[in-house]
Amino acid sequence: MNGIKIRGTGRCVPKKVVTNQDLANIVETSDEWITTRTGIQHRHHCVTESHADLCLWAARSALEKAGVTPDQIGAVIVATVTPGTACPSAACLLQRDLGLPADIPCFDLNAACTGFLFALHTMECLLNASPRKFGLVVGAEQLSRVINWEDRNTCILFGDGAGAAVVECREGWPSISAVLGAKGDDELLRLPGLEAGERSFIAMDGKKVFKFAVEAVPACIDAVLEKAGKTVEDVDFFVFHQANARIIDLAVRKYHVPPEKYYKNISEYGNTAAASVPLVLSELQDQGRIGPGSRMLVVAFGGGLTWGGALMEFA
Ligand code: UT7
Repeated sequence: MNGIKIRGTGRCVPKKVVTNQDLANIVETSDEWITTRTGIQHRHHCVTESHADLCLWAARSALEKAGVTPDQIGAVIVATVTPGTACPSAACLLQRDLGLPADIPCFDLNAACTGFLFALHTMECLLNASPRKFGLVVGAEQLSRVINWEDRNTCILFGDGAGAAVVECREGWPSISAVLGAKGDDELLRLPGLEAGERSFIAMDGKKVFKFAVEAVPACIDAVLEKAGKTVEDVDFFVFHQANARIIDLAVRKYHVPPEKYYKNISEYGNTAAASVPLVLSELQDQGRIGPGSRMLVVAFGGGLTWGGALMEFA
C-alpha cells in the first residue's frame, strides 16, 4: 500500500475564551485545582460559531496552506462525536460548502478522541483506491453542547475547535504504520446519543480513564515504532492527544523525549477530543516547528474505548 503524507494543516477555534475562574464561579472548583490536575487554563466555547463553521474554516485554511484546489480532493472524513446534525454529515456539508467533487466519499467517523487517527488510516486506504490523490481529514468538536454544567468532574475539561489536514498519497511513500484499537466500554466514558431523549451529557470516570491512558500511550508508541521498523531517535516530533498534561508528562519522561520534540497546548484549549491532534499539528506548522520532511509520531486515546498511533510525515 502507498502511504500518505501531510501537505498542509489548518485550524479554527471559537472566539469566546472560558477561564478556570469563570468555571469556579459556577461549580465548586478552583484555578489551582484545574491547573495542577489537568494543565488546563482556558478553553474556547462556541457562541455564534457552528460545528459546520469550525470545519469549514479549518478545512479552507488547510487547503490554502497545502496549495491544493477543491477539484483535487478524492475523499473527506470528519472525525467527530458532536456533529451539528447526524444527517447531513459534517463531511457532506463540507463537500457542498467547499465545492468539492460530487463523485467522492464524504462521511463522518466516530472514534472519540482517537477519531483523527482512525480517519488518517481510513484515508490512506481510500486514497489508494482513488484516482484523485489528495484527501481532506478534519477533527472537529463542539463539546460545549454536551457539558453537564453541574458536574465539576467533567465540565472543566472540554473545549470546542477544529483542525484539518490535507494529505497526499503517492506511489513509493511509506505507509503511516497506523496501530488502532478498540474495546467496547460504556462505563468509563459515555456520551448518550439518540437514546437520551432530551439533552445528552458527557459522563466519565476520570481516574479509570487516566489509568487506561497511561498504559495505552506507551503501548501505542512501542507498537507503531515496531510496525514501522523505527526507533525513538527516528522521530522528529511527538504529537499527543491533549487530555491531561500529566499523561503527556509521564510519556515524555518514560521515553526521554526532550522539550523541543513535543508540544502541549492543553492550557489554551482543554480537551477538544477529535480536534486535539490536528490542532497541535496546525500550531506546530505555523510555528515552523514541523514542515517538509518532518516525521511525527502521533498518539491518541479516548472514549469507546479507542486508542491509536501512527507515524505521519510532512510532504
Ligand atoms: O480525552 C480522553 C478521555 N479523557 C481523559 O483522558 C481524562 C483522564 N482523566 C483525568 O484527566 C483525571 O482523572 C481528571 C482530571 C478527570 C481528574 O483528576 P484526578 O487527579 O484523577 O482527580 P480525582 O477524580 O481522583 O478526584 C480527586 C478529588 C476528588 O475529591 P475527594 O473524593 O478526594 O474528596 C474529586 O471529587 O478532586 C475532586 N474533584 C475536584 N475538585 C475541584 C474532581 N473534580 C474537581 C474539580 N475541582 N473540578
